[in-house]
Amino acid sequence: MTQGPTRRTVLLATGAAALTVGCSEYGDEDSGSSSSSVDASAGQELAKASEIPVGGGKIFAEEKIVVTQPKEGEFKAFSNICTHQQCPVADVSDGTINCSCHGSKFSITDGAVQNPPATKPLPAKQIKVSGDSITLA
Ligand code: FES
Repeated sequence: MTQGPTRRTVLLATGAAALTVGCSEYGDEDSGSSSSSVDASAGQELAKASEIPVGGGKIFAEEKIVVTQPKEGEFKAFSNICTHQQCPVADVSDGTINCSCHGSKFSITDGAVQNPPATKPLPAKQIKVSGDSITLA
């Protein structure tokens, strides 16, 4: 009767030790990668200017930003969150930034609503373009 609990105790202790080792290794990796991502957010290169189609745009979901190029050499950036019910916008086509949740469309030039149900424009975001490099401002 006493052997059963003793074996379980040994197994549990071994499992806990293995978990502890695993956690400390992952913890070290996490702290390393999170400090580098903090560095990357300020002045981080978002894209090459050549990646943004003229008359279109590109969505950067992780950075929550849409970069557009309404005219050659003229770049704009907007929030990627639809002002209707906060879906992330789905794509950019035919001069508009499109939300697939309920069909709202926003201008790639100024973020203005081109198609309801959204009633407010996409907020503008700050970017810097230097040469072929687009960075978060
Ligand atoms: S959340 Fe975008 S159209 Fe409704």
